[in-house]
Amino acid sequence: MAKVILENIYKSFPHRSGKATPSNRSSHLKKDEKPDRTSVLRSINLTIEDGEFMVLVGPSGCGKSTLLRLIAGLEELTAGNIWVGDRLVNALPPKERDIAMVFQNYALYPHLSVYDNIAFGLRRMGIDEGKTSIMQDILAQMSRKLPRKLRYLTEKEKAIDERVRKVAQLLQIELLLDRLPKQLSGGQKQRVALGRAISRNPQVFLMDEPLSNLDAKLRAQTRSQIVKLQRQLGVTTIYVTHDQTEAMTMGDRIAVMNGGEIQQLAKPLEIYNRPANRFVAEFIGSPPMNFLSVRVDSPITLTHSQFHLTIPDLWSQWVSSYQGRSLLLGIRPEHFAIATPSPHNLQVQVDLVEALGNETYIWVHPLEEPDFSLIARVPSDAQIHLGDRIWLSPMLDKIHLFDAQTDMAIWQE
Ligand SMILES: Nc1ncnc2c1ncn2[C@@H]1O[C@H](COP(=O)(O)OP(=O)(O)OP(=O)(O)O)[C@@H](O)[C@H]1O
Ligand SMILES: [Mg+2]
Repeated sequence: MAKVILENIYKSFPHRSGKATPSNRSSHLKKDEKPDRTSVLRSINLTIEDGEFMVLVGPSGCGKSTLLRLIAGLEELTAGNIWVGDRLVNALPPKERDIAMVFQNYALYPHLSVYDNIAFGLRRMGIDEGKTSIMQDILAQMSRKLPRKLRYLTEKEKAIDERVRKVAQLLQIELLLDRLPKQLSGGQKQRVALGRAISRNPQVFLMDEPLSNLDAKLRAQTRSQIVKLQRQLGVTTIYVTHDQTEAMTMGDRIAVMNGGEIQQLAKPLEIYNRPANRFVAEFIGSPPMNFLSVRVDSPITLTHSQFHLTIPDLWSQWVSSYQGRSLLLGIRPEHFAIATPSPHNLQVQVDLVEALGNETYIWVHPLEEPDFSLIARVPSDAQIHLGDRIWLSPMLDKIHLFDAQTDMAIWQE
């Protein structure tokens, strides 16, 4: 088990051929600014504690897989340092980093049985329990074609066998050990891929969207199994996903990424309750947060074209410097309540009703802004229909405020 430290990581890829031409081989540019390279990760600083489950979440293309591949040693750093425990691993090849990676597409060996897929890494690692004599090797060689139970096992194979069976039991795949990957369902393949990673007993697990090929039910099930397993094994884990539900439910902490940078690093509920900027506010939470432009009329009065709000006093310390200027008011769909007519509430018309059974989402527009869309979550028994005009009131203790220019949460200023 080990702490992982990512120190000022930069990564850029060469364009196409990657050959620098004399015209773009300019020496005064920084590594990530070279015109013949695309910068994919910038200034990543992150410490993953020993035994922590860290989730990297962000939209497609934001650099999550690249970061994992850098940690695994499958890509070369452009700049920065990676520490695993107290070892600087920058220059170490993947197999010397003591890290196991689970890929999105499982990457099982198709011609090997489940057993051998799990044992493969252990054999390559040269497990060091016991010595093997030449005689034992010959016996093992001769009996290799026999059914597994009749084979002669060297001391090393015995140790591997014990490890494979223990892992198979943990993941409940004991009955699948003799099958080939093509004879398994997606969820079973997933567990074999996990088994292969676990059996190596690494210091760090890296998982790149391991659940994305599974159906919704299996996904939820496997999600909780992985969390349980990680707690049980206590192995430092870095888990990549673009699914915010996975991020919220699995991570001890979440690093939200966008455009090659970490936008916010915090515990799941802190990210939900106190998003640091508009991107995080919109990315975490489903359906996403609504944003309305408001003007600051006093440190605790916000005016929108259709309503005005007196917000809790605690905001005045940040809002006062915006006097006369505009702010973005963020309201999550679940923080609108159906209300009565009032200058503090917003009158809207209903454009779409999505009844999910346990709750209902309504898509609405403010009466004076037919092209502006908002989403509110209401109880499933609310009698609301297409075309209805209703009043919504924001829950004042749940609002978010962002600088209209920088998109940063104003409490950050
Ligand atoms: N070998 C490469 N050469 C050039 N560009 C690359 C290479 N690998 C990745 N990229 C680019 O780096 C960016 C980040 O890619 P990456 O695969 O890390 O994204 P991601 O966050 O994992 O996305 P997804 O959620 O779609 O898997 C993308 O714009 C991608 O096109
Ligand atoms: Mg990826």
